Amino acid sequence: MEVLKTIDLNKTFKIKSLKISAVENFNIEINRTDFFALVGESGSGKSTVAKLLTRLIKPESGRIFFKENDIWKINGDDLKNFRKSIGLVFQDSYASLNPRMKIIDIVQEPLKIHKKFKVYEIKSKVNEILKNMGIDEVMFERYPHQLSGGQRQRVAISRALILEPELLIADEPLSALDISLQASILNQIIEIKKTREMGILLITHDLNIVRAVSNRLAVMHLGRIVEEGQTKSIFSEPLHPYTKKLLNSIPDFQRRNRPKIAKISTENKLCWILKGCRFFYRCDYRMDICKDNVPQLKEIKNRKVRCFLY
Ligand SMILES: Nc1ncnc2c1ncn2[C@@H]1O[C@H](COP(=O)(O)OP(=O)(O)OP(=O)(O)O)[C@@H](O)[C@H]1O
Ligand code: SF4
Ligand SMILES: [Mg+2]
Repeated sequence: MEVLKTIDLNKTFKIKSLKISAVENFNIEINRTDFFALVGESGSGKSTVAKLLTRLIKPESGRIFFKENDIWKINGDDLKNFRKSIGLVFQDSYASLNPRMKIIDIVQEPLKIHKKFKVYEIKSKVNEILKNMGIDEVMFERYPHQLSGGQRQRVAISRALILEPELLIADEPLSALDISLQASILNQIIEIKKTREMGILLITHDLNIVRAVSNRLAVMHLGRIVEEGQTKSIFSEPLHPYTKKLLNSIPDFQRRNRPKIAKISTENKLCWILKGCRFFYRCDYRMDICKDNVPQLKEIKNRKVRCFLY
């Protein structure tokens, strides 16, 4: 059964005179067994999706279900349970860690907020998760500024995992780190996933990571999912022209140090005002129909593709 499901989510932003559909008719279902990857170049709406799914921002329309519950219609214990069940990690862990708190307090805080745990349970859970995430005991009493970037990210992930969430949403959690650190942290997350039922939604620009760890993949382009399916089959036979381009330009796509909120390029400005397919100007296969008509997601070969070629 799915942990999280969305129905026709929409979120627009107005930037000067331009109204953009950062997330448009967005449908996704994530199961507890999934390692789901969401990719797309800068400005495609991935972080906006992460914020919508975690109730950080409200959609203009559409619904988000956590198990059976609409996350905007719950309150009290159900809302508390939702917050407990979704772990969230962003790229910039430094900003999310309270600089005046010691590492051990940062990680145990969610357990204290949820009040259901005895002191010895808190201690053992914190020890276990920090150990599993590769944080040495000598670090426990330190403050965030005394840690390296990699250690801080391990702490942020430990904090997100401490309540044993049913879904971990990680938005570029590793992109500020060097490759060997990325691999080690990712392996630790995978080991933890093996010990509990936890779905993962990973937002990343690293297609090598996507290929290595995810079982399902959605590709976003300017607010719309253009292809979704099993990671393996998309890598072996990408169908959407944008997915093809993306997989052919791996190093270019993996550029680091993007701004927190994507900037709109001049090229994309033109695409946003197009009535039809927003990939039109860059597409080698474009046809007359594509300019003024929005292609719908179609089921084909066990996946969904949004393109008039199919
Ligand atoms: N708070 C905001 N105010 C105005 N526009 C926003 C805001 N947040 C996002 N946007 C716009 O919405 C679009 C999607 O942005 P978003 O940050 O979700 O993209 P992204 O896929 O996460 O990009 P990146 O890969 O660079 O992180 C962009 O055009 C961005 O400019
Ligand atoms: S709908 Fe048309 S323009 Fe868009 S990706 Fe398909 S062929 Fe290209
Ligand atoms: Mg982003």
